[in-house]
Amino acid sequence: YGAFNQKMDYVFKIVLIGDSAVGKSQLLARFARNEFNLESKATIGVEFQTKTLVIDNKMVKAQIWDTAGQERYRAVTSAYYRGAVGAMLVYDMTKLQSFDHMASWLEELRGHADKNIVVMLIGNKCDLGTLRAVPTEDAQEFAEKENLYFMETSALEETNVESAFMTILIEIY
Ligand code: GTP
Ligand code: MG
Repeated sequence: YGAFNQKMDYVFKIVLIGDSAVGKSQLLARFARNEFNLESKATIGVEFQTKTLVIDNKMVKAQIWDTAGQERYRAVTSAYYRGAVGAMLVYDMTKLQSFDHMASWLEELRGHADKNIVVMLIGNKCDLGTLRAVPTEDAQEFAEKENLYFMETSALEETNVESAFMTILIEIY
């Protein structure tokens, strides 16, 4: 028992959404286990990982859900969003299409999630700066218009990953 069975003060469910191959699963692997895999396989169905943190002297368990970007592998939508208090809308900054699809992902999110959900737009793979297809200003503008937080990240190089999850968690808290 002891330290391994401490009572949680809060459990926060956060969902990851966005097109296939934008790096949702690797952002989660980096945050939850500090791991990264360049040969990551497409997610089938739903997976989740938890990470316990201390915020303001309270034990907070982040329960982060990850599903497939590919339609045919996706989980039951309503169950996926149920109870979520945070969401990460992820695109790949080297793939314009994945950014263009953010509006429809956001629409699905808003149609299923609680209206007070904290949402962050994430431009992942910023380590591939020379291949950038989405200007930072365009993403910033979209985020402002839709009232989203916004960060550019790299799961590969660990850029802003911790900071993105922590910003959402602190805002939820
Ligand atoms: P689905 O499960 O199909 O929805 O895809 P996903 O969004 O979970 O993508 P995943 O995390 O599996 O990553 C897809 C590919 O992009 C893998 O080859 C990863 O190694 C790679 N990748 C993920 N994050 C980064 C990153 O920050 N930089 C670079 N260069 N590659 C990344
Ligand atoms: Mg995945």
